[in-house]
Amino acid sequence: MLRTHTCGELSLLDVNKKVTLCGWLQRSRDLGGMTFIDLRDRYGITQLVFNMDSLPHLCEAARKLGREFVLEVEGTVAERSNKNAKIATGDIEIIVTSFTVLNAAVLPPFTIEDQTDGGDDIRMKYRYLDIRRAPVRDALLLRAKVAAATRTYLNQQQFVEVETPVLIKSTPEGARDFVVPSRMNQGEFYALPQSPQTFKQLLMVAGMDKYYQIVKCFRDEDLRADRQPEFTQIDCEMSFVSQEDILETFEGMIRHLFQEVKGIDIGTLPRMTYADAMKYYGNDKPDIRFDMRIAEFGDLVHGKNFKVFDDAELVVAICAKGCSEYTRKQLDELTDWVKRPQLGMSGLVYARYGKDGSIKSSVDKFYGPEELSRWMQACQAEPGDLVLILAGNEHKTRKAMSELRLEMGERLGYRNKDEFKCLWVLDFPLLEWSEETSRWHAMHHPFTSPKPDDFANLATDPGSVRANAYDMVINGVEVGGGSIRIHNKEIQQQMFQLLGFSPEDAQAQFGFLMNAFEFGAPPHGGIAFGFDRLCSLFGGADSIRDYIAFPKNNAGRDVMIDSPSAISIEQRKELGLL
Ligand code: AMO
Repeated sequence: MLRTHTCGELSLLDVNKKVTLCGWLQRSRDLGGMTFIDLRDRYGITQLVFNMDSLPHLCEAARKLGREFVLEVEGTVAERSNKNAKIATGDIEIIVTSFTVLNAAVLPPFTIEDQTDGGDDIRMKYRYLDIRRAPVRDALLLRAKVAAATRTYLNQQQFVEVETPVLIKSTPEGARDFVVPSRMNQGEFYALPQSPQTFKQLLMVAGMDKYYQIVKCFRDEDLRADRQPEFTQIDCEMSFVSQEDILETFEGMIRHLFQEVKGIDIGTLPRMTYADAMKYYGNDKPDIRFDMRIAEFGDLVHGKNFKVFDDAELVVAICAKGCSEYTRKQLDELTDWVKRPQLGMSGLVYARYGKDGSIKSSVDKFYGPEELSRWMQACQAEPGDLVLILAGNEHKTRKAMSELRLEMGERLGYRNKDEFKCLWVLDFPLLEWSEETSRWHAMHHPFTSPKPDDFANLATDPGSVRANAYDMVINGVEVGGGSIRIHNKEIQQQMFQLLGFSPEDAQAQFGFLMNAFEFGAPPHGGIAFGFDRLCSLFGGADSIRDYIAFPKNNAGRDVMIDSPSAISIEQRKELGLL
């Protein structure tokens, strides 16, 4: 090694040692008789001192060094008179006796500091410089730690890590595929896997019993803060298990990760049915760091000549604790907030439960004190609270109320990033009807098994059939999802039929799986966790981007390597694309 120590490890215990450090010049300060340089590497920052009196030439040479120069420095460790408690090496400094410039650097396009002046685009273009910054570097170190802890847990539980192929076959279910043209089979395409779902099931047929993989998945879908076109899953599958076995195994994994990475004991995970999650929180990934459950008003409000409520499919309310004194301006602002096109509500009704016990609503003309009092009861409101009510089309209103609940939670400071509330959401519907394609779609994927109790309804009332499917939700983020699979050829065929596949199509697309089921498929099930999401949650970030070394931007582009990009005419000809 060129160095004896890193820039993050020297302390008072090393005083008087002769050391050699290597790193990048973060910052230099010239104080006349002395020059100070902060030298940075992955491990930290160490202060270097150049003394004009004792080594004037060295000091002068040091003053000519620019930001981000790569240096090898020799010197002696000394106690600092002016200690810096903010950094690990803040008690010491290096009195430099010689140095070598290992490489010069041009001026970086943004400051390489925790708080940078670089916007998103420039940071992404020079991502290798961005990663030198402590917050991004730490995010990647955290990611590596989560991966290591995941492997430790799963290896201990006798899971075996198996790699599955990246060039696979395009299937019509799920999100859009990214496809890759085949040169050797012109006119044909591979697809990049949206997940290794079918392969992990085949590994169960193959007798691997417990499989896992920390694996790249690819989905050509619209991007958001928590979605990337290529992302990573902790993908797992187990044989001879019930849903309960899977929930216990992976509750154990998440408990282990919180313990190892955050030093937090998250206890036992509560469980909620999909139906309750929708009813009380308006969505299937409830943020249960705060209560503020949604109350359905229905009968409480109908028949009083208030057209908005009378005509509504759904009237729902939440209680914002301690907000009865919200100003008119604040309420108008909330009203505008629910009227934004993203939510598209026609308005917001409110009722203030005054600290003196009086109740005043924005619809006093239609509802008397007794009715209003019943509203307060329905939302468990107390004096000092504010009740917010939305009405309209069922789907839209539930969604808007879910968003309003989260917004109020945010405004009231209930969504603390250092607090973690995990839960299982269970009993998802097996199918959902798509107006767009006028057919049933698998809510999770076509390999998920129906609940045995609901099996009889599959032919008569498919929408009512619940699945053996579960999601793990942390702080309102879906971090993982899985199911017990169908392991029987006939049921799998029936499922494909329900999803609108002709027997020929089903055979062409998924014949390999159904054929495999004829060779003794064990009962099996599994789960996949969004690894990037898990890491960003641990790190307290809203976006998964900084937990991915080289992410894509919102347009799906890598602006650093400029991809996607055109290919030459020759390449296209070779691939049979021209
Ligand atoms: P699912 O599609 O629910 O299940 O994906 C599992 C988890 O992956 C994460 N995730 C994403 N993360 C970042 N960017 C994306 N575009 C993205 N899409 C999904 C989510 C999600 O919970 N094969 C099944 C799992 C199984 O049944 O075992 C599957 O892929 O956190």
